[in-house]
Amino acid sequence: MSQLSENRIKTVSPQEIEKQREYAELVAEMLMSEYPEGAKAFVHTYGCQGNVADGERIEGMLVSMGYSLTGDVNSADLILFNTCAIREHAEDRLYGNVGALKVLKKAKPNLRILLCGCMMQQKHAVEKIKKSYPFVNIVFGTHVLHKLPEMLYRNLCTGKRVFEITDEPGVIAENLPVHRDSSFKAWLPIMYGCNNFCSYCVVPYVRGRERSRDPQAVIEEARCLVKQGYKDITLLGQNVNSYGKGTDYNFARLLREINGIEGDFVIRFMTSHPKDCTTELLDTMAQCEKVAKHLHLPFQSGNNRVLKEMNRGYTREKYLELLDYAYKVMPDLSVTADVIVGFPGETYDEFLDTVSLVEKAGFTSMYTFIFSSRPGTKAAQMPDPVSREEKGRWFNELLQAQEKAADIRTSSMVGRTFRVLCEGINKNGLIEGRTQGNVIIEFPGSTGLIGTFANVKVTESLIWILKGELL
Ligand code: SAH
Ligand code: SF4
Ligand code: F3S
Repeated sequence: MSQLSENRIKTVSPQEIEKQREYAELVAEMLMSEYPEGAKAFVHTYGCQGNVADGERIEGMLVSMGYSLTGDVNSADLILFNTCAIREHAEDRLYGNVGALKVLKKAKPNLRILLCGCMMQQKHAVEKIKKSYPFVNIVFGTHVLHKLPEMLYRNLCTGKRVFEITDEPGVIAENLPVHRDSSFKAWLPIMYGCNNFCSYCVVPYVRGRERSRDPQAVIEEARCLVKQGYKDITLLGQNVNSYGKGTDYNFARLLREINGIEGDFVIRFMTSHPKDCTTELLDTMAQCEKVAKHLHLPFQSGNNRVLKEMNRGYTREKYLELLDYAYKVMPDLSVTADVIVGFPGETYDEFLDTVSLVEKAGFTSMYTFIFSSRPGTKAAQMPDPVSREEKGRWFNELLQAQEKAADIRTSSMVGRTFRVLCEGINKNGLIEGRTQGNVIIEFPGSTGLIGTFANVKVTESLIWILKGELL
């Protein structure tokens, strides 16, 4: 991918990665004298799967520095929040959770508190942390994640707060240690950043420009995961359909190559952007037996004027045409989507176009959000006359429409048998798994099934979740 080096995206050099490995060793030594019994780290990630994948790299680096990971915040010697900025609610929650750490820090002055992720790429948030949360030790942005060992070393040596936030097009850091949360489901980032600037969205500002990892690096990572026994691999990017843009390599080709890796596993991917979703990609999905017949294709609005104001780059008609084609080549396809209710200036009639799209599309499930104004985005400048209460009513109306659609979809699965990845035991003491189409199914079975595929016959549908029996 020579194109990548031609623009301003930096690939972190192997020397830099090696330097960070050396810092990690220094930190490990210092921690050994400070915590002879071992230091513990608590990591919490907010937001999307891309952020979760970052969190797994952060955990990998912390483990390489000698920390053991704990789920108990009270016993931790280091607490790290990997933040999200997508909606105001995500930010408010973060401030609440950081504020609550003040008491812990008082009781344990050596506790180190770290904040990173998308919110820390926003000036207003960093200023607030600087001023109002003096007990936070290290703050770093999304482009310097690989420097965590160096930042921690600096803080350990000087005791001073570290703020490392750079505003750049973005970097690609390969070969960082990873601590994966699951032993059978894996996140595999294939690209970072976003160039689309949908008018409501903060991601392009906090994640930098779109950049694709080298296909060989991605394929090699997939191969390793399969070798280690991973059964479910999700390829991640904000817009995977534009993977490799500007080169002669595209996402369909990547899918085919990963599909060619020997082994029993399922390939998933998200998120697909309708403007870059091609019939070539849908044909490839249909032809690749390991690719789950599940498409997460956010549409955001069913009204053409609103779509245009959102800068989405497609129309309602184009979206429905894509779905038609997708269902034609994959009759069993399960489609899920994201939608925003109450975009600035959206009228009730325009909102009804969203409802009618939902009635037509046959989504299995949908993530519905009320518009949240994000500082710095274009939509934040637009007049927004509809009240929050009114938007709440529209939101409920949309949920009802989707509930009907989901009911039709999952009811049609009763009596059929699906190959399910068993993921754990749920609160009813049943095995919980997911179909290829990402529908949750519960059934009686032994814990030995966890992490394996099982054939399960659907006996009952409860709209969002299925009940079944093991064959
Ligand atoms: N890259 C993906 C979306 C990532 S963000 C895509 O383009 O489809 C996940 C979802 O959050 C979006 O699909 C959108 O529905 C929602 N979202 C993003 N910004 C939002 C905002 N300002 N207010 C409400 N919802 C938002
Ligand atoms: Fe945000 Fe649009 Fe990029 Fe998705 S494609 S991350 S919604 S700007
Ligand atoms: Fe949130 Fe950043 Fe993801 S803003 S949704 S964590 S890219």
